[in-house]
Formats: sequence, C-alpha cells, structure tokens
Amino acid sequence: SEPEHISIIDSPKHVGETVRIGAWLTDKRSSGKISFLQLRDGTAFFQGVVVKNAVTEEVWNLAKEMHQEASFWVTGEIHEDKRSHFGYEIEISNIEMVGESEGYPITPKEHGIDFLLDHRHLWLRSRKPFAIMHIRNEMIRATYEFFNKEGFIKMDPPEITNSAPEGTTELFHIDYFDTDAYLSQSGQLYMEAGAMAYGKVFSFGPTFRAEKSKTRRHLTEFWQMEPEMAFMHQEESLQIQERYIAYMVQCVLDKCAYDLKLLDRDPEILKRYTKTPFPRITYDKAIEMLQSAGYDTKWGADFGSPEETYISDQFEQPVFVMNYPKAVKSFYMKSHPTRDDVYICADLLAPEGYGEIIGGSEREDNYDVLKQSILDHHLSLDDYGWYLDLRKYGSVPHSGFGMGLERAITWICHLDHVREAIPFPRMINRLRP
Ligand code: 4AD
Ligand code: MG
Repeated sequence: SEPEHISIIDSPKHVGETVRIGAWLTDKRSSGKISFLQLRDGTAFFQGVVVKNAVTEEVWNLAKEMHQEASFWVTGEIHEDKRSHFGYEIEISNIEMVGESEGYPITPKEHGIDFLLDHRHLWLRSRKPFAIMHIRNEMIRATYEFFNKEGFIKMDPPEITNSAPEGTTELFHIDYFDTDAYLSQSGQLYMEAGAMAYGKVFSFGPTFRAEKSKTRRHLTEFWQMEPEMAFMHQEESLQIQERYIAYMVQCVLDKCAYDLKLLDRDPEILKRYTKTPFPRITYDKAIEMLQSAGYDTKWGADFGSPEETYISDQFEQPVFVMNYPKAVKSFYMKSHPTRDDVYICADLLAPEGYGEIIGGSEREDNYDVLKQSILDHHLSLDDYGWYLDLRKYGSVPHSGFGMGLERAITWICHLDHVREAIPFPRMINRLRP
C-alpha cells in the first residue's frame, strides 16, 4: 500500500514505518557515500539521511544538487536518533521534486536584523520565528480556553471608531467618507457596553497606536486582549489577571517544550510564573523604591522603560503596581475612595525587565463624575454620549484590563524586541513586507 502522508511532528508515532512527508530543505551536508538533508515541513525540523548505495542514481543526484528551500516529497523510514535535537530522523528511499529554489537569501550564516526584517516573508521559515509563532499560537489558544472556562463571551469591538480612550496623541487618522475616523487604540469603551449586556466579555484583536517612539516595546499595530466584567471591583479583576497569566504560562510549558528548547528558554524560570498570587505594590511604594535606588523620578511622573525595568527586576514574579496618579492615566478610571489624587488601577509588570504587559482599572460608574472627567479631558459630550448612557441605565461597578499579546510573548520567549513577536511587525519605520 501507499506510504502514509504524515507531518514531521508526528514521526515519533511512526518509528519503523515507511512514510511520505512534504518538506523543504533548510541545509545539507554530504560526503561521497551519504547525504544529510535538514528538512522542515512547518510542524518541526529534522534530518533526512540518503545513503548512496540504498537509492537510485537519480535520487542520489537530486539530494546532492537541490538547493536551500527547494520543496519535495520524501519517502522513507522513521528512526529514533538520540543525537538530533528532535530525536528522530528519516532514512530516505525516494525524493520527488516539487519546487526548485535558487539563491535563497537567508543562508545559514548570521544576518543583520534589518536584512532579516526586510525578508520577513521568508525569515518566518527559520527556527527562531517558527518557535515564537508556535508559542504565540498556544498563548492565543490558551486565552480562548481560559476565558471560556471562566464564563466570558468573546465580543468584537469595532476597529474604526471616533473615540480615543487612551488619549488623542497616538491616533491613526483615516478619511471616512466626508468625516474623520480613527483606527481603534483599544476596544475598552465598547467592551464596557458589552459587559452591561452580557456580564463578562473579552475581545482579542489588533489595536493601533501612532507611536513615534522607537523602543523595544512599541509596535504601531499590536494585538490586545481586553476583558470587561460587570458587577466586579478591581480586587476580583486582579485575581483574574494573575490566574490568566499563570494559566497561559502553564499551557506554554505543557505544549511548547520543543519551541522553548529551540529558543533556549529555561522552563524552570517559566515555572515561577505559574504560581499565584503575584506580588503587589502601590505606585507610592514604587516611587520610594526608585528614589532609594538613585532614580530622580518624582511622584506624579509616569514610568518609562528604565523605571519599569528596575521595578520588575526586584521581583521573581510579575508584579502589580497599583493606584497611579490621575495625571498619567485615562479619563474613564474610577477615583480611589480615600485619595483623590490616584485612580483604582494597576499595571502588571513582567519580570526579567520586560515591563508593562497589562494595564487595567475599575471604571468610573457614576454619571456625574464621569461626565465631569470627560469635560476635564476636553473630550466631546457628543462623541461620548453613548458611553455616558451606560451610567444612566443600571450602572454597576465594573472593571477590566488589556493585555498586549506581543509584550507577553516577548517576555515568555525572552526576546530582545517586540518586533519578533508578531509575524509582520508595523513600526514607525517599517511597513513592508
Ligand atoms: O495600557 P494600555 O494603553 O491600556 C488600554 O488600552 C486599556 N484601554 C486596556 C483596558 O483596560 N481594556 O494598553 C494595554 C496593553 C499594555 O499593557 C501593553 O501590554 C500593550 O497593551 N501595549 C502595547 N503593545 C505593543 N505596542 C504598543 N505600542 C503598545 N501600547 C500598549
Ligand atoms: Mg498602560
């Protein structure tokens, strides 16, 4: 009978069987009598062995002459191979060419980051992006699973809006027929409407910020996951946040051992992040810590990367920094009950110096207070009338948060820069491919 068509990742289940795999060549090495073909099929990487005496002259010549990223079918027997990274290899009996490849630009030597990003459409095939995208996929899967288990429904806010929940300085403007519109910075305000309709909701999709800053943490298009919960105070929201992060890290540990190995990411470090609760400090305490470490950050200032890095470095787990000054946060947050200079809010800072991965708060649920806040922020009551309605008809305490997917990936994969956490990064100077 015909050999079964399998994926490389499933080869452990086929030891001793002859199978067929559709593959690309990543590298090869040959001597007079034996060729080692490094193969990938999108599910894993492993080695194919061609022994001159065991195949036809045509197959031997194909193996010798094919170039990097040529595509072909291989037929052969699966063996265990303790020396290889993956643990298995295929002893090739036949090769059928599918697509030739010549002059593939990403050779096995080292390349600069700009060159690699210019070739992102091809670079995605390499080992490091492969591992990162598999982990990204698992984090997305785990997110849906977690929020479904917790009784949330997924609700999709619009991407084209006329509102600016996170301030007007970083909006992407678009022409919308004869009026102005913006790409969404955050779906939060719409998710609040969702929470009043369905109780617990979450969104997961791209959001946009016209970030002029060139940092390791900023993209202009990034994926945000935004839950919003009715009848819920900040305390319960913080517990959901830590449970969610711990769950996601556990799923990556359970399902992505191979990818973590490709990235050289030590699973023992990640295990620390599966334990809850996470530590909490106030913004006031964070200022104290910074000042005693020699930073001249004054109370009232927002934290930049250096401050967040310093704070997160002081903890072995992600840390919540709570109750920021009003001046550095958004108009919709709820005032602290005993302090009128801070909000009931928290940012979750990732350890190992990665900084903010989640921003969240309790929302102002009082009609008059929120209306005043809208006016104080020079926002138009015309644009935000619908949002005020949510406080007019059965307003309830509610809380929510937003996690930047790429920030979380950068931390979990221990990357230098957020641009590697998304298939096609969009940054101030990068729009292609
Ligand atoms: O802290 P942010 O601005 O909060 C909000 O947008 C709230 N409306 C969320 C909510 O409560 N529903 O953004 C949330 C998260 C940040 O913690 C960060 O992880 C990520 O989004 N983020 C970015 N990620 C990549 N590039 C950027 N330019 C980002 N800006 C924010
Ligand atoms: Mg924030």
